[in-house]
Amino acid sequence: MGISLIGRSIGESVTLKLNETAAILREKGDPVIHLGGGEPKSRAPIDALVAAAGLLNSGEIRYTPADGIPALKQAIIRYTEEYYDRVVAPENVIASGGAKQSIMVALQAILNPQEELIYPAPYWVSYPEMAKICGAKGVAVHAEDGTFYPRIQDIEQRVGSYTKAVIINSPNNHTGAMYSEQFIADIVEFCERRDLYLIMDDIYHRLIFDGRKPINCWDYAKNKTETSKLVIINGVSKQYAMTGFRIGWAVGNKKLIEVMTNIQGHQTSGPSAVLQRAAVAALNGLQSGVESLRTTLENNRNVLIARLKSFDGVHVTKPDGTFYCFADFRNYNKDSTALSKFLLDKVWVVTVPGVEFGLEGYLRISFCGTIKDITSGIERMKWALDPNAPNELYIGERKLVRDWM
Ligand SMILES: Cc1ncc(COP(=O)(O)O)c(C=O)c1O
Repeated sequence: MGISLIGRSIGESVTLKLNETAAILREKGDPVIHLGGGEPKSRAPIDALVAAAGLLNSGEIRYTPADGIPALKQAIIRYTEEYYDRVVAPENVIASGGAKQSIMVALQAILNPQEELIYPAPYWVSYPEMAKICGAKGVAVHAEDGTFYPRIQDIEQRVGSYTKAVIINSPNNHTGAMYSEQFIADIVEFCERRDLYLIMDDIYHRLIFDGRKPINCWDYAKNKTETSKLVIINGVSKQYAMTGFRIGWAVGNKKLIEVMTNIQGHQTSGPSAVLQRAAVAALNGLQSGVESLRTTLENNRNVLIARLKSFDGVHVTKPDGTFYCFADFRNYNKDSTALSKFLLDKVWVVTVPGVEFGLEGYLRISFCGTIKDITSGIERMKWALDPNAPNELYIGERKLVRDWM
């Protein structure tokens, strides 16, 4: 059909597909509970809404510089100073259409065909596909001890002559694991020693629990000059509940940012002027919404974990942050795709199969919805999976009768 090799190698985004499936079922009137989502349900900050509306009302909505408007770069510079204790120049910053685009453009600027991008497993679904878009190869590293917390030795063992970059996402989508300060120190030191790019995907860095504080990778960098290959990724999607605004950014050395800007300039140009204004207002405005989201998520996590522990066959590691929990359902079904489909077909609960993130037998369950969604969703899952559960379950007016197990 004349489709390129790279084009053919890219799979569809499983998480986006699940959102679509949930929306279609809801439209049909099915009582779907979406425990597979990746976005907070709180409102975007009022400052952001007012700023966006102000620019819209002016009617003067134009192209923006390929690397973002100066006001947004300034807001990112201030953010970098606050969270990374580092003063950077505008030339060290690029704003993109979501953190996703910042990562993609960074990889296009860094990776040659055949080179390798290393990341710990379980990993965010897009990393392997993004590497493939560059003609490069994603290499997932499983912690040898079977936990969600990789050790530097695990990474070291997989680094070879083709390795060009490492990407670290902590706290991690999908496990919620926040890697230790020691691990971050080790990986920064290792990448500096081996002259590898280290991309820190910090998109969830403020959504952490139990009194944890965000870890600043720059604290461990010896090279703080323009030859540093440390790249920081962040954005407004998760912390400000602004997923649909599509604004993210990268902070890195000037040469890399210049190349990223050239690529982005031909790809999409600068992000939407309206949405950049909104992001500036979110970053510079009242920050209480972030803390309120964080505490809501922590409470949701506690409720979810308590409910999951009531299953006989589920093993769960308490997430340190994010809004995802990665639970081991192998006692019920070793095939996570089949199990996820079963839960959707039988009780209309959306979960994400772990095999998509490099770990079969697990399900990703999100806790960014309401407490009611979490409790009802888990109750339905328990009913579907527990052989000792009563034979019938009412969902609204609908009576479900178990015809399996
Ligand atoms: C680990 C990780 N990195 C990056 C992103 C991209 O975020 P954005 O909405 O800013 O593109 C996501 C979104 O789900 C994510 O989970």
